[in-house]
Order: sequence, then C-alpha cells, then structure tokens
Amino acid sequence: MSYYASGADDELTKRENGTAFSRFFFHPRVMRPISKVDPSTTILGIQSSLPIFVSAAGLAKLGHPLGEANITRGAGRTGIIQMVSSASSLSVTQIAEARVSPSQPLFFQLYKHKDNKIAEGRRDVRAPFELEDQDARRSRIARKAAQDMPQVEEDAEDKSVNMDGTIGNSLHSMDTDMTFKETVPWLRSVTKLPIVIKGVQCVADAVLAAEAGVDGILLSNHGGRQLDYSLPPLEVLYRIRKQRPDVFDKLEGNLHRRWNVLKALCLGATAVGLGRVFMYANSAYGEAGVVQAVRIMQREITLGMRLLGVTSVKEMVPEMVERVDWQPTLARL
Ligand SMILES: Cc1cc2nc3c(=O)[nH]c(=O)nc-3n(C[C@H](O)[C@H](O)[C@H](O)COP(=O)(O)O)c2cc1C
Repeated sequence: MSYYASGADDELTKRENGTAFSRFFFHPRVMRPISKVDPSTTILGIQSSLPIFVSAAGLAKLGHPLGEANITRGAGRTGIIQMVSSASSLSVTQIAEARVSPSQPLFFQLYKHKDNKIAEGRRDVRAPFELEDQDARRSRIARKAAQDMPQVEEDAEDKSVNMDGTIGNSLHSMDTDMTFKETVPWLRSVTKLPIVIKGVQCVADAVLAAEAGVDGILLSNHGGRQLDYSLPPLEVLYRIRKQRPDVFDKLEGNLHRRWNVLKALCLGATAVGLGRVFMYANSAYGEAGVVQAVRIMQREITLGMRLLGVTSVKEMVPEMVERVDWQPTLARL
C-alpha cells in the first residue's frame, strides 16, 4: 500500500496534482440537445470506450496475486486501453494472454536499456505481444549470477540508505542519457509502433517532442513520485494551450488524473491516464474492482458531459474552462 500511495519527498506535487484541478472552472453551455452522449474516443487511432486509459504502474502483484492480468481483463471488458509497465510483475506474454480477445489493444511503456544493442534485441519493442518469457529468464539468470558472485562488503552509508525504492536494481540498467535528437530516431528505426514520450513536464519539452516527430506526449510527473515541486500536469497542459497551441496540431497529448478528466479534455488532452485508481481497485476487488472503477468513471464522465452541454469528446473546447488565480477552499481532497 505504501508503494502505491507514496509520492516524492514532502508529497507536495502529489497533492497539487489533485488540487490543481480545483483552480479550473467550467463554462457549461445550455439549451443544447444532450439526450445522447457518446464518451468514446480514439487514442493514437485506437478506439476507446472512454477518454481514459490505464497508465503504466509496476508491481500489481503487490496488491493481488493475479497482478496485472486483472487489470488487463477489466480493461478489455470495459473497452479501455491498458498501458503495460516495463516494471510489471507479470511478463508481457502473460499479460497479452490475459486479454479478453486477441484484438484487445495494449500500450507498452518502455524503460529503455542503456545499451542500445540490448534494447534493440528486446523483441517487445518490435512485437510486444509475441514476446517470449525472456525477461523472466533473464532475471532468473541474473539472480543465479548474483548468488554465485563473491560477496562484496558495502560501505556503511550504502547499507543504511536505499535510494532505489521498491523497483530497486532494475534502475541501474536504464538509459539515463536519452535525448530527443538521438533516442527518438533510434526508437523509430527499431519499431513501427506509434511513439509517445511519457513524463513531459514543461512547455519547452512539449515543443521539442513535437519537433522530434513523436506521435504523442504524456504530461506526467509520475504521480508526484519523482521530482517534488514539479508542476501538476494540468497546469503544464494549460501553459501549452496558452503559449504553444500549435503543439496540439502535431501530436496527441495525454495527462494524468481522475475526476476532472473533462477539464483536461477541454484544454486539449486526447485522454487522461489513471494509475493508482486501478492499482487500488485491483488490490481490493481484483478484476471486478477494475470493471467497477471504469463503470463509476463512465457514469461521471457521461453525466459531466451532459452538464457541460456536449455530446461528444471533440465538442469539448478550451473556451469551456477558465483558470482562476485564486485557490478555492477545498473541504476534502
Ligand atoms: C505504484 C505506482 C507505480 C508506477 N509505476 C510506473 C511505471 O512502472 N512506469 C511508468 O511509466 N509510470 C509508473 N507510474 C506512474 C503512473 O503511470 C502515472 O504517471 C501516475 O500513477 C498517475 O497518477 P495517479 O496515480 O494519481 O493517477 C507509477 C505510479 C504508481 C502510483
């Protein structure tokens, strides 16, 4: 539970990710026909029953023994798309096998290996759903190698401070020298899949991503789990809309956060990715919980659209929201 719930440092960004939505007010329209509301949309050209998707979150087995498979089935049954984390507790093959039908789409979040050759060799970049259980084999080999290694005495400081958290050792193989100029063309050369940069947190990087020719960006501060005091994605979205609206012509923009999905859609997001909601739902009620979470959001989004005076996702436009420069009083977050 602590692993799912926690944020970085003082958790200020984690809290603000939610509070930010309270500064955006609606301009709902009236006297419009709203008896038939259709909340479906497409994300990267793929049909989705709602303008939301499951955002990548690692280690679903911490909450439920069936892990990510529950989320896959829940997403499949409700027609939304699941983004599979590189740090999943099941292999990509196992997750692909849990799909309710072979045509159920999955997105794949890639933590790129620092060695391009190894990264290129990962068949999941090219054909994620044909991946053999090579990750599991690799970790078995790595565990065995670690057991066989002579024990090295760590210094006292290393012993007392674990900087890596629960994901631990996998961090050490990640590419920490990625650039828009080199990594995006490299990825393009090894996959035909659409490419989305996840973790964009300022206008300048949104512009660079568009110039690098990716298909989309995901505005995200990792659920407030990385750099505390990074801006809430909604505020970044608002700034892109104000300063560089041309970015929206070049790529799809998504961001995170749940209840106020409609505000993000009005500001130009294609869809909103949700992380913890599905981890909690899975932990408490498994597949049924995931389905129920989607149903609740479906009710709220449909009702919200009706109250806003729109019948389709594309009717939501920036003029329907206003950002205030004062902080409304929040009874409870
Ligand atoms: C427990 C947990 C694990 C996560 N693991 C990953 C991950 O493996 N890869 C990734 O790209 N994002 C990861 N994220 C970030 C989520 O994709 C997403 O940005 C964040 O959860 C959205 O905020 P929300 O949880 O408040 O909806 C994780 C988030 C949480 C809470």
